[in-house]
Amino acid sequence: MEQFVIKGGKPLQGHVTIGGAKNAALAILAAAIMTDDDVVIDNLPDVRDINVMLDAMGEIGAKVERIDRHTVRINGRNIEALSVDYEYIKKIRASYYLLGALLGKYKKAEVALPGGCAIGARPIDLHVKGFKALGAEIDIGYGLISAKAKWLAGNHIYLDKVSVGATINILMAATLADGKTVIENAAKEPHVVDVANFLNSMGANIRGAGTDVIRIVGVPALHGTEYSVIPDQIEAGTFMFAAAATHGNVTVHNVIPRHLEATTAKLLEAGCEITEYDDAVRVNAEGIPLRHTQVTTLPYPGFPTDMQPQMTVVLGLAEGTSTVTESIFENRFKYVDELTRMGAHIQVESNIAIITGVERYTGARVSAPDLRAGAALCIAGLAADGITVIDDVYYIQRGYESFEKKMQGLGANMELADSERAAQKFILKVS
Ligand code: EPZ
Repeated sequence: MEQFVIKGGKPLQGHVTIGGAKNAALAILAAAIMTDDDVVIDNLPDVRDINVMLDAMGEIGAKVERIDRHTVRINGRNIEALSVDYEYIKKIRASYYLLGALLGKYKKAEVALPGGCAIGARPIDLHVKGFKALGAEIDIGYGLISAKAKWLAGNHIYLDKVSVGATINILMAATLADGKTVIENAAKEPHVVDVANFLNSMGANIRGAGTDVIRIVGVPALHGTEYSVIPDQIEAGTFMFAAAATHGNVTVHNVIPRHLEATTAKLLEAGCEITEYDDAVRVNAEGIPLRHTQVTTLPYPGFPTDMQPQMTVVLGLAEGTSTVTESIFENRFKYVDELTRMGAHIQVESNIAIITGVERYTGARVSAPDLRAGAALCIAGLAADGITVIDDVYYIQRGYESFEKKMQGLGANMELADSERAAQKFILKVS
């Protein structure tokens, strides 16, 4: 089982380039099958979730051609199966985006029901509500969700909760529905905007993405396009928090600073110096005592839930008492037990973490309960005294390309060990 092995205590210094946004790319890949023309997508992150989505698309008959590590050519002309196997949904929930894409294009689709995961139950009732509003018949049973419609007709859909997945899935199906659709209380994340821009580059008629009201006028068909995925604000933020926790000085390149506003605002409150450039942001925490603050996760443009574990790790080292309130998912503090084993003083009361800052973390063997918590535990290890071994790096590799290499580029003593022996060898080398 592969592990990350880290010798902590060294400030991260230097420059790191951020890749394409995983959560935009997953939806864009699904949407790419909505035309029979070729679609070329670049700036894809080379991470497990993307590779699973490409496998799922190949499985149903789409032509998937890897042009290079970050670029694919997709053609959905020869899709014959309209059912996405459970093995894909089990690996990545986002394969349910194929439901919206296939329903939009073929008026019929079937996908295994996504289960809950480490961070919560994650129901899909809002997706179902939207598809039904467009005229689809939905059957849920035997672990499958099937959707079919003689035709799809635009409608006025109000989402009871802000949901990224439901907004994107409904948006895709509505693109090829007859007439107008309005999605109210829509998610405004940058990756929702990216999916809308991608579909518009294929001839869709979508207005208002990025606001809470998205208007779609259905079109008869979509055509091919070439598109580049936006930079990953969550990967960028993860490195920014790593700079803060290690009292380092790091510049993240190939980012859209506006997408990082909530993150930079909190790092400023915690005492870091932030410098924004056109497509880069520098975080300087050298010799700066981190200060306590309060954070509540909210839908964009609020503080992202996907940065909550990373923020908690930083506040765990800040003077004073901080609170982090998780308002999006009901179970996203599981990693706190592991962080406590590294010396953190955190008390979780329902969806609030009350954090009393400590001088330092101490290295320990910990396991990653999910993608972002795994990255956060790596940040804690980079800041800690001594050696930290992170098991279950599979989760981290789902969403971070060459994570250890990028950290090494910032001076981190961090290796990906493929055996206990390799781990011991690294520990001897750095001790
Ligand atoms: C997306 O998940 C992201 N995943 C998540 O990132 C991210 O945490 C989340 O958006 C919030 O930003 C992808 O984009 C692949 P939601 P999604 O629908 O779409 C409830 C990562 O680390 N809800 O916005 O599933 C839901 O339970 C992952 O990259 C319903 O009640 O999130 C949650 O409480 C983790 N009914 C809230 O809405 C529904 O039908 C927000 O979920 C749908 C969602």
